[in-house]
Amino acid sequence: MALTLTTTSPDVSILHTPHSGPAQWWRNAVIYQVYPRSFADANGDGIGDIAGITQRLDHLRELGVDALWLSPFYKSPQADAGYDVADYRQIDPLFGTLDDFDAMAAKARELNLKVIVDLVPNHTSDDHEWFKEALSAGPGSPERDRYMFRDGKGKNGELPPNNWQSIFGGPAWTRVDQRWNASEDGIADQQWYLHMFDTRQPDLNWDNAEVREDFESILRFWLDRGVDGFRIDVAHGMVKAAGLPDWNGLTSMVEGTTAEGATQIKTDGTPNEDGGNGGGNSGPMFDQDGVHEIYRSWHKVMETYDGDRALVAEAWVEPLSRLAMYVREDEMQQAFNFSYLTTKWDAAALRTVINASIRENDNVGAPTTWVLSNHDVVRHASRMGLATGELNPNGIGKNDPQPDAALGLRRARAATLQMLALPGSAYLYQGEELGLPDHTTLDDQYRQDPAWERKGHTEAGRDGCRVPIPWEADSPAYGFSTTGQSWLPQPDTYKACAADVQKATANSTFSMYQRALKLRREHNLGLGSLGWVTEFEHTGEVLAFENNNIIVLTNIGGDAIELPQGTRVVLSSAPMHSALTVERDVCVWIVRD
Ligand code: GLC
Ligand code: CA
Repeated sequence: MALTLTTTSPDVSILHTPHSGPAQWWRNAVIYQVYPRSFADANGDGIGDIAGITQRLDHLRELGVDALWLSPFYKSPQADAGYDVADYRQIDPLFGTLDDFDAMAAKARELNLKVIVDLVPNHTSDDHEWFKEALSAGPGSPERDRYMFRDGKGKNGELPPNNWQSIFGGPAWTRVDQRWNASEDGIADQQWYLHMFDTRQPDLNWDNAEVREDFESILRFWLDRGVDGFRIDVAHGMVKAAGLPDWNGLTSMVEGTTAEGATQIKTDGTPNEDGGNGGGNSGPMFDQDGVHEIYRSWHKVMETYDGDRALVAEAWVEPLSRLAMYVREDEMQQAFNFSYLTTKWDAAALRTVINASIRENDNVGAPTTWVLSNHDVVRHASRMGLATGELNPNGIGKNDPQPDAALGLRRARAATLQMLALPGSAYLYQGEELGLPDHTTLDDQYRQDPAWERKGHTEAGRDGCRVPIPWEADSPAYGFSTTGQSWLPQPDTYKACAADVQKATANSTFSMYQRALKLRREHNLGLGSLGWVTEFEHTGEVLAFENNNIIVLTNIGGDAIELPQGTRVVLSSAPMHSALTVERDVCVWIVRD
């Protein structure tokens, strides 16, 4: 197929013009997610820590990102890898001390990197002082009112208050006397408490004034320490529908909560006009209008600080017009674009989700964000190597169909180049710049994701994307830890991905990311425009758009494309066999000479 791009200006239909307001840093930032327990281990116990992050921070500067977001490092029994917080103002000894945090943040500032921390307001750990107080104070006490305790149904309260299921599997309610007993614990009443996730993650009651006050004070605690923003965990979950009505639809995070009566979650990755892939989040536990008042009050707290501090919503909400409500002018600054992450590798599907994302965010004056990997999903280098029909599995285990690693990486590199040229802010997950796949053959004995147990070993869960990072091909644990310890074993395939190998190899995934980030900055793509090259507007095989003076073309499934004379490829996701031929599963950035 030959591209008939004129060398002056292609025929484009303009979707997005640059934002004209103030240039806050988060509008175009590339933000790197650090998963502390798997980034770098400085004290050799096999678990990554804050001192390790500080030691390796130069890697982020070298890569060329603008900011880092750290998954939780707070005091926690680690029942959900730290997303079960026992004290929001303390660092878990596993990860270090507040001094370590300050040293890390100071180094980040020196390197001109913004720092975003994770806030988990939907639930606490059952080790949190409040929960312990709630248990011992008993039914009807103000201490219990901070959480979602209810009497059971049935003759003797033997049935849970409603039929909700936990995201990690099993019922979302636990009865107090099922876990504790009078003789040993001094607690044995028959109330039930709600936990949308693990039993060890009781949901907070956001109608309680003390809960609201305390979280504002937690925001201030970290803002005073100089953090530039917060990633808000389960931002769509804090407020539940009044009366906690039963829900017969399916409840899930990644795919969204599916409409009542649906028997199957739709995951084939074909978005509808709204950009939605998962069927919406219409259940009574998610995306209730009441959450927005919380974010309006947090916005006011953030505003009293200098430096454009930002809130980013982790909200698995569809349609995108609902998601955009979280980033209205007086609420948060960003929301993760999971509809984009869950869209299949298909030009028409991608065009639909990009259109909807930009349209809905432009409507409220917020930047669109883009993301392909994080600590909850199979890494895109593995996901994209799976046969169609297994688009977003909850983990890949050694007995599951295995991805085609080479195809996955080739597509992942193309997908990343495409993503980094889109206007808005982009999120990278640690290791993707090394072309890291998931550990897809991890032995089940090592699994730690609570979803693995709670779902009765039917889904591998998220450990595969959380395996420690390879830094040096020839060091123990590939340089992750001085002693060679690693809380999850690393597969042999990680050797070739090690940062030192990647940095020494021309055309490595690392050098592609580095070059993309440099060009993105030089051409100001994050604050740029977007127009579709109309020649391809209706094909399912080619996606082509223009942002500022760069044309970005991805051959998603068709024959090789011949670029016209007078154009030049400045970056390609795979080596090109001829200067103007774009093969299948390749993305190129083109300029006109
Ligand atoms: C978010 C986190 C996930 C965690 C869950 C419960 O989705 O990203 O890792 O398990 O919230 O806190
Ligand atoms: Ca450690």
